[in-house]
Amino acid sequence: MSVVNNKSKIQMLISAEQIAERVETLADEIVADAPSDLLVVVILKGSFVFAADLVRELERKGASAQVDFVTLSSYDVRRESRGSVTVTHDLSEDVAGRAILIVDDILESGRTIAFARETMVNRGAASVKTCLLLDKPTQRKVDIEADYVGFTIDPEFVVGYGLDFAKRYRGLPYIGSIPPS
Ligand code: IMP
Ligand code: MG
Repeated sequence: MSVVNNKSKIQMLISAEQIAERVETLADEIVADAPSDLLVVVILKGSFVFAADLVRELERKGASAQVDFVTLSSYDVRRESRGSVTVTHDLSEDVAGRAILIVDDILESGRTIAFARETMVNRGAASVKTCLLLDKPTQRKVDIEADYVGFTIDPEFVVGYGLDFAKRYRGLPYIGSIPPS
């Protein structure tokens, strides 16, 4: 049976409790240097669960942010990152003059975040910061680091808490790794 249909092959890496604790402390870090009137730019689809938790923590901690969504495409189902990133569904907000916090699921080659960052700067954002749930620093192809990172992980393929493998497992409440087949 392929791993896509075999949930038992997924090994828990970061529990739901560990994620919740880290999301709260991440929100503390962001609030400590957040300018007022933040616009949170959520990169879909992988970061939708993380962003939902993060914006609620930000709100609880007094940083009332606006939220908008952009869909970027760079990754194919064969686990290989393509060289270029495209916007497949754009923001509805104007970012000119705004303090932007880009939220994404995972930093791997760095191409997605580099593209998102450059796009916000080119559109005239007043400031751009990046918040990544996960970081695989050994996989970088572009020289970029995130301002806020939830967890640094080994270069393994992970699913859950928004992240998919072949469009599955986004709903898992924890982050698990899929062993190479
Ligand atoms: P980058 O552009 O190479 O940094 O890749 C970032 C994007 O690739 C993420 O936003 C994910 O959509 C996808 N990605 C990278 N690693 C994984 C993984 O382990 N599981 C699921 N998606 C991943
Ligand atoms: Mg993504």
